[in-house]
Amino acid sequence: MIRGAFPVLRPLLHRLDPEAAHALTIRSLAAAPPLRPAPDDPRLSVEAFGLTFPNPVGLAAGYDKQCEVPDRLLGLGFGFVELGGVTPRPQPGNPRPRVFRLPGDGAVINRFGLNSDGLARCRVRLERRRGRPGIVGVNLGANKESADRIADYATLVAGLAGLAAFLTINVSSPNTAGLRDLQGEAFLDTLLARAVEARDRADEVRGSRTRLLLKIAPDLAEAALDAITATALARGIDGLVVSNTTIARPEGLAQTRLAGEAGGLSGRPLFALSTRVLAQVRLRVGEAVPLIGVGGVDSAAAAWTKIEAGASLVQLYTGLIYEGPGLVPDIKRGLLDRLSAEGLTSLAPVVGRRAAELAR
Ligand code: FNR
Repeated sequence: MIRGAFPVLRPLLHRLDPEAAHALTIRSLAAAPPLRPAPDDPRLSVEAFGLTFPNPVGLAAGYDKQCEVPDRLLGLGFGFVELGGVTPRPQPGNPRPRVFRLPGDGAVINRFGLNSDGLARCRVRLERRRGRPGIVGVNLGANKESADRIADYATLVAGLAGLAAFLTINVSSPNTAGLRDLQGEAFLDTLLARAVEARDRADEVRGSRTRLLLKIAPDLAEAALDAITATALARGIDGLVVSNTTIARPEGLAQTRLAGEAGGLSGRPLFALSTRVLAQVRLRVGEAVPLIGVGGVDSAAAAWTKIEAGASLVQLYTGLIYEGPGLVPDIKRGLLDRLSAEGLTSLAPVVGRRAAELAR
């Protein structure tokens, strides 16, 4: 029903201010009856981080920042959902307007600046869904005014371990000044050590197993990727998410006026850059840890290329704004068509097979 309604609703939604339209979709999802999608074809099943994902198509962080509707989102057919970014203390984020649609480019620029209800409220919402099926992760960010951002991540990990299947350390949002500096080798090493320690302690007490992922920017030079991947592997991080939005403005953007807005660019123009960095990361980590490929996934072809570049799983956000929730079953069907065409019974042999070529 939601799928059928989207072509009618989209022009209306897109006439609204993007943030108002988004709030409306979250409220509508919260009010909708729970959906139970058809079981996924077993060929789409993915084993990663010791979890079995029913399909590889996930919702990226930033859509359900306040952890309000994870089960409704799983009901749209996603194989997993990443909530947040959540910060330890509530914070309002940047002044509005802070999100802009670039429809001619299939893109969005946002500078939300991690507006968050804070850890305590998100925890309560996650406690409520404890024991329900479906793989849910939470994206973690530091408070803007924090005196100790490394401690912020440890606090979040300690507070959320056991309430989510995975927690993503987001040091790549471009809209909190200085946040991406935490990707520097020395900071990152300390940050990851503290986060792993907090996770291990909380998991031991709660008898849980919480995976820790690291999400990186697409704007990193190859030397920085060497250091980040080596540090993440040495610290026992379970996987990497590649990538966040870009501060770059790739050539050829149609909407030049809005392209000048400050913030992170997502959607179609991010695809090439984020896929290249994904492949570069794959060449560095090999099969040591699974990767989640994100950035400009708006079709089965785009998802397939992410997998060929090295992603075991993919995520999307901006594609949902332009294509609607029908995109999720469309991608799943398209992936199955490609598997059939090659006579394959799983995506595993596809993962990373074109990494060398796509890294260039
Ligand atoms: C995001 N993204 C994001 N990422 C993150 O790690 N924490 C966050 O809180 C947010 N918030 C956020 C808000 C908005 C409005 C957008 C569009 C994006 C980034 C997102 O998870 C993803 O990495 C990029 O958007 C690239 O994927 P798409 O949108 O091209 O599929």
